[in-house]
Amino acid sequence: MSKLGVGIAAKRVCGRGFHNSVRLASRQPLVLNGIEYATDNYTNVPASIASRVHPHPQLPYLENQPLALLRGEIERVLGARYMPIRAPSPVVSTRLNFDELGFPEDHPGRQPSDTYFVNKNTCLRTHTSAHQIGAFRSGNLRWLLTADVFRRDEIDSSHYPVFHQMEGASVWNHEELVPGGSVEQECVAMEQKLANVPMEIQDQVSVEDAGGWQPKHEANNRQGAELSMRHLKATLNTLVYELFQPRWALESQSDEPLKVRWIPAFFPFTSPSFEVEVWFRGKWLEILGSGVVQQSILDQSGLADKMGWAFGLGLERIAMVLFSIPDIRLFWSQDKRFLGQFAKQSGRSLPLMTFKPYSKHPPCYKDVSFWLPPNFHENDLFETVRDCAGDLVEDVECIDSFVHLKTQKASRCYRVNYRSMDRNLENEQINTLHNAVLDRLRREFSLEIR
Ligand code: PHE
Repeated sequence: MSKLGVGIAAKRVCGRGFHNSVRLASRQPLVLNGIEYATDNYTNVPASIASRVHPHPQLPYLENQPLALLRGEIERVLGARYMPIRAPSPVVSTRLNFDELGFPEDHPGRQPSDTYFVNKNTCLRTHTSAHQIGAFRSGNLRWLLTADVFRRDEIDSSHYPVFHQMEGASVWNHEELVPGGSVEQECVAMEQKLANVPMEIQDQVSVEDAGGWQPKHEANNRQGAELSMRHLKATLNTLVYELFQPRWALESQSDEPLKVRWIPAFFPFTSPSFEVEVWFRGKWLEILGSGVVQQSILDQSGLADKMGWAFGLGLERIAMVLFSIPDIRLFWSQDKRFLGQFAKQSGRSLPLMTFKPYSKHPPCYKDVSFWLPPNFHENDLFETVRDCAGDLVEDVECIDSFVHLKTQKASRCYRVNYRSMDRNLENEQINTLHNAVLDRLRREFSLEIR
């Protein structure tokens, strides 16, 4: 999935195999939050992940937590019209996470190689959109929901199997979506402000390239759909400006304006759909996914008479660049040297806080080479390393891959980089850890380690 964690649209599929079901044959019930769930051959939630399942998201609600500061800032910028919602437990039905949102049966995001399944019909939510219909159904027309989301993925400084998203939405009655109505008035007010600030908005996307108008919108209220899209763009351009401009002004040391660009995207539950990117530290940074809500979603929510927009963003991604946090594991640190820094600066405007890394401890590399078994997926390797080593693993990288000429067997070599965020690691301790990883790989996946 994209590094931002809003990438259900554009999934990376290189080097993927199929899920190894041998390991998942356990039929013991799985206990999450004190609730027992039946298991089956889809079940793939290891203990290290089960222990992160809480009745509500945690980090974005802790004092001095950068994710909490960022959540507060986003809520402040969007304003009191948006009802803040703290998501429930991440254990959701696959119906909620995928089916009701229009994900086809064979969508790559639904594979057990990418998603944590409690059982065939229950998973750990992979995105905040799992609660779109629920939030609308409880009568909220404008809301901002915060949740922890879970994805099986690679291991490096910007990927962690649990991260946080915020999803926002706004829908209106058709009468409000008319020229000169309340929605247009809000658009005009936001657009006037944006016209007077130093930001360059690159937005040449044609609606056709972004998925087109939905037939129901065309038939019922094409003008309303256009106004929804205009409101979406003004709202998110304002959000991007408020979050990034102070940092940009400080770092760019020039009069160059902050640059934001809109690019076409695809999500099964919005159309047209867009991604928003910001030019930051020499590259385009993907910030969020968004679009005009599919009418089928509103129909299922009991809001068939309304239309509007939704967006979803990844909090860690933004917090890492805004505050210069170099490693995603730091968000989970209880270390005073981390959390204390965000308390001290609390008098400062939030986007100007800067994290100063405390001493970086030496890394310790260990390689693992093996012949690739037929049903092996590299996420199974990543998961095993995480489950054994927890936050002591910094990244895992494929450094060699070849096919034996005679036997046609494929070989892979991965380099595991162990490094603690807060102390030096003894080589002996790492050897023990790494041997435990190798043992499990042999036992659970019958890996032939070379
Ligand atoms: N849920 C999408 C993701 O995680 C992001 C999104 C949210 C897109 C809302 C459109 C509307 O990739």
